[in-house]
Amino acid sequence: MLPTEIPQLNDYSASSVEAFFTQLKTTFDTEAQSANTAEKVEALRVKWIGRKQGLLNHISGLLKKAPAETRRDVGMQFNTFKKYVDLVCDIDARKKLWDADLAEIGIVIERPKVRSIDITLPGSVRAPGIPHPLLKTMNEIVAVFHNLGYSTALGPQVESDFYNFEALNFPPNHPARDTQDTLVLADQQAKPSRDRLLMRTHTSPVQVRSMIAQAPPIRIVVPGKVHRNDAADATHSPVFHQVEGLCVDTDITFSDLKGTLDHAMKALFGSSVKTRFFPSFFPFTEPSADVQISCIFCAGKGCRKCKQSGWIELLGCGMVDPAVFASVTEARRKLDPADDAYNPAKITGFAFGMGVERIAMIQHGISEIGHFFSGDMRFLEQFA
Ligand code: DAH
Repeated sequence: MLPTEIPQLNDYSASSVEAFFTQLKTTFDTEAQSANTAEKVEALRVKWIGRKQGLLNHISGLLKKAPAETRRDVGMQFNTFKKYVDLVCDIDARKKLWDADLAEIGIVIERPKVRSIDITLPGSVRAPGIPHPLLKTMNEIVAVFHNLGYSTALGPQVESDFYNFEALNFPPNHPARDTQDTLVLADQQAKPSRDRLLMRTHTSPVQVRSMIAQAPPIRIVVPGKVHRNDAADATHSPVFHQVEGLCVDTDITFSDLKGTLDHAMKALFGSSVKTRFFPSFFPFTEPSADVQISCIFCAGKGCRKCKQSGWIELLGCGMVDPAVFASVTEARRKLDPADDAYNPAKITGFAFGMGVERIAMIQHGISEIGHFFSGDMRFLEQFA
């Protein structure tokens, strides 16, 4: 009695032999498809091509009875089928085939989770990292002020309306807020306006946080990420970076502000750079100014980059508005009712804020802000 897996073979005509192997293959494939672990494949191998009781032994016995003139043909079909069974049951050979190759011959396997390691392969070399160009520029700016005795202060990106606006003399609903298209957090309406949370639109709230925490003298720089609901274009990104500065002490004057920023611009862009201060407006400084530097591309002669003006606008600054000191004093008096550290009759200060992307773009002649955030290695590698 032959095992039941072996189909009936009535005669040795070409069509019968072909039908015999087709049916055999179907039976085998059905079993092979469920052999999805190494153990099951081994059991399949023993069953079909095991030395003693393997089904192929029976089949070869059966085919030996073929008449001489068909034997060659029958033998070839047997060999093809045997090779196929060999391959499917050979775990190592299966490992070498791609899943796609196996799928093509109808086999779905669970690959072993751990692959062996070829210790003769060369090790992979990891490229050394570099600071991102924005971080590099931000560090450069911060270092210029560290050298002047400033220290670094940081603040949260999710900020309250009080620190981001109210304490900086932007009253609720005041149109000055329109200049800073704000992303607000959802479901804040139940809170008093000053406690509502938003994404900080500038690093200036850290001025307030620092003054509430610490009496003068203060000299700080505040590098950090800020957010605005701006559409992205060549020079705008809804997320960008600023470095804020604050200096509060006795007898701080506008001349100190001018001297400090003139030095900083020369340190960043080269000693031949000139600065000029243009009247401007910010709610938290009075007077306020925009600082321009002589165009570093044409040395002030006028070119496309400076729109033929010879000057490039770089940052905002001004003398700290007494209204800011008043907000700080109000907050400090909740802790100490006698606090008078920020009495504008005794102290004065200046502040400034600059955009890191803008400065990096000018430093490196980059015309698209998006390059900084694209993660494109062709761009980033240039700063290695
Ligand atoms: N916070 C301003 C902005 O984001 C920049 C700025 C201007 C900061 C003047 C200052 C300053 O500290 O004094 O547009």
